[in-house]
Amino acid sequence: MKIDDVKRILAIGAGTMGHQIGFLCALHGYDVVVYDVNDDFLAAARRRVDRLADRFIARKRLAEEQKESLLARMAYTSDAEAAAAKADIVTESVPEDPALKGKIFGQFNRLCPERTIFTTNTSSLVPSMFAEATGRPDRFLAFHFHDIQLTDVVDVMPHPGTSPESLELVQAFARRLDQTVILLERENFGYVFNAMLSDLFKSALTLAAKGVAAVEDIDRAWMGVLQAPMGPFGMMDSVGLTTVWKISDYWAKATDDAQLAANAAFLKVLIDDGRLGKKSGAGFYSYPKPLFQQPGFSSQKSGD
Ligand SMILES: NC(=O)c1ccc[n+]([C@@H]2O[C@H](COP(=O)([O-])OP(=O)(O)OC[C@H]3O[C@@H](n4cnc5c(N)ncnc54)[C@H](O)[C@@H]3O)[C@@H](O)[C@H]2O)c1
Repeated sequence: MKIDDVKRILAIGAGTMGHQIGFLCALHGYDVVVYDVNDDFLAAARRRVDRLADRFIARKRLAEEQKESLLARMAYTSDAEAAAAKADIVTESVPEDPALKGKIFGQFNRLCPERTIFTTNTSSLVPSMFAEATGRPDRFLAFHFHDIQLTDVVDVMPHPGTSPESLELVQAFARRLDQTVILLERENFGYVFNAMLSDLFKSALTLAAKGVAAVEDIDRAWMGVLQAPMGPFGMMDSVGLTTVWKISDYWAKATDDAQLAANAAFLKVLIDDGRLGKKSGAGFYSYPKPLFQQPGFSSQKSGD
């Protein structure tokens, strides 16, 4: 299959990421089927796509008169057989469980045409963990998106059994979607950006949990030196403290690391207090006007 032969995309999972990736494909002219086992999630995805289109119109990334034809390119179904019938590329965004992902790919391997390329949007797993279960490991790799409203950076990560043709096709597809491809030369947990981000979070939490400096000063240091709009604790608030805690807690137990356990305990105090980050109105900062966004919070000088 050549890139010009790719016409139809199947997005498996209609949640936070599935509807966004489906929307992005339709925005670039592809026919999209969004598949989910849950009809309520499918209905919600349809509404979320509609709102996403309005936001893209407001930001002049979509012409108003193109909205209806974009929406018409997207179908929503819980019928796996119908969803799979004509798919050229599959993008999977179901919950982060390698056994579940493997099982679903195995199911779609029986339903999809031979040519179909399978991709996973996993955040923290690597494709070799369930490549065999897909039934077509040579036509399978990770193609990972971030929030499509924030960034156009995507990770493309093959596993050792991915064919060069599949890798080339997915990169060409990413370029057709106007994305900036970060190509992984080998498998890595967290790809590139998330791997760096998790080390930054770990360093910042260690400094705070050890009492080296206050949360605000740690963010101030990062923001002031790099002239960045937020620091690591502001970023943690955006991600959600439960997610950051789950990752710290998991690795603390998996590696028996006392500092990681202390970092997880430091986060747990806020979570037990209902401070879950930006989405709950409070985390390390209070929203909608967090301290780190107030004028003069960090150095505004530049030059030396
Ligand atoms: N949320 C993020 O910011 C983000 C960013 C990048 C990658 N990811 C990754 O994307 C994947 C999905 O995350 P999400 O946040 O969109 O999850 P989500 O919980 O919002 O959505 C998952 C969807 O999968 C559906 N589902 C469950 N079992 C299914 C099945 N057997 N068949 C079809 N659909 C099924 C659920 O009904 C739900 O709609 C995960 O692997 C995650 O690591 C998430």
